[in-house]
Amino acid sequence: MNLVLMGLPGAGKGTQAGLLEEKYEIPHVSTGDMFRAAIKNETELGKEAKSYMDEGELVPDEVTIGIVRERLKKPDCQGGFILDGFPRTVEQAEALDEILENQESSLDLVISMVLPEDELMKRLTGRRVCPECGENYHTEYSPPEKEGVCDRCGAELIQRSDDREDTVKRRLEVNREKIKNLQDYYQDRDLLVEFDASGDVEEVHGRFVELLEDSL
Ligand code: AP5
Ligand code: ZN
Repeated sequence: MNLVLMGLPGAGKGTQAGLLEEKYEIPHVSTGDMFRAAIKNETELGKEAKSYMDEGELVPDEVTIGIVRERLKKPDCQGGFILDGFPRTVEQAEALDEILENQESSLDLVISMVLPEDELMKRLTGRRVCPECGENYHTEYSPPEKEGVCDRCGAELIQRSDDREDTVKRRLEVNREKIKNLQDYYQDRDLLVEFDASGDVEEVHGRFVELLEDSL
């Protein structure tokens, strides 16, 4: 199963991809997570990505396509993958088609997660993350047991540097413009499914499983 989850920031791509990874035992490939790992490890890639991410801008296509090309070559992706946050531009979508073609593979489904903007804003500005183990929380929707502390590893939770209100606004603006073209790209190829991303995490997961079992 080769899946793409697309949607504006905060739609729940990362949360749902994580649950699908567990259920179907296929890797969750998130370009955002790969960039954040590079930033944490202070690599050249991390330095470059950080300058764009902190402004809410997209990392240049050449850089992003390069890391995905390497990742999809790995043995664990040969039995399927869930791409989260890639592609984000038509150039990236074209590159993905070419990468898969070279591997004699193709996409099965592109799920476009849709949520009203005020809810996206709420999900993003309330998100807290664990800098140690990567667990995601939300101040209102999924708070940790002890305020500000990771349930899993005890580390102090932080707000992602791009989750402050002004950067969130810019991220929504940048992605809104790109998403329309991407939707058209996949609609033309008959791969696109529009998906209502509202409701709590479990409810949305249930609808995902139903959709996948019906479509694949
Ligand atoms: P990335 O990390 O991919 O960020 P994003 O697309 O902005 O998406 P988010 O991670 O913010 O949201 P999500 O949809 O995954 O929602 P989540 O499940 O976390 O990218 C970061 C940056 O990297 C980009 O801005 C760009 O600079 C760069 N980048 C990445 N990919 C790139 C590419 N292809 N090209 C160029 N640049 C790229 O949920 C959000 C919150 O809501 C959490 O707190 C969660 O707990 C909560 N939540 C989730 N689901 C629910 C629910 N059903 N009910 C209630 N709360 C929920
Ligand atoms: Zn933790």
